[in-house]
Amino acid sequence: MDKLKVAIGCDHAGLHYKEAIIDYLKFRGIEYDDMGTYTPESCDYPVIARKVCEKVIHNEANRGILVCGTGIGMSIVANKVHGIRAALCGDTYSARVSRAHNNANVLCLGSRVIGEHLALDIVDTWLKTGFEGGRHKKRVDMIE
Ligand code: RB5
Repeated sequence: MDKLKVAIGCDHAGLHYKEAIIDYLKFRGIEYDDMGTYTPESCDYPVIARKVCEKVIHNEANRGILVCGTGIGMSIVANKVHGIRAALCGDTYSARVSRAHNNANVLCLGSRVIGEHLALDIVDTWLKTGFEGGRHKKRVDMIE
């Protein structure tokens, strides 16, 4: 899969941010799969994280984005899925380097931690940055 395709998910705490990110993806013409949650009702972040990660693992999406209140729950779950390299980012530098050095395939965001505009900047940076490979490839391979 060469073309960018994003699987996106959130819990109740991340719903508004997910909607804002989806608006951004539409604006940029990026294909996406919305894996929920779809309502403000309380739900369990592990269920959503698993759905998004499975999309990535099965090559039905090449990147995943997960939003919860802190981003922590989502990142803990995502990093338990074999083949997922999830980066919890609260700044654009980390977002860029998580792609360039770690080849992160899932981005986690905390809606109660960072502002919406920063979250969108992080998403923009993260989606635009490629993996540098080279000396970083050996290290990423060691994770597997
Ligand atoms: C929900 O209240 C909150 O616990 C969840 O969104 C997340 O922050 C967990 O890591």
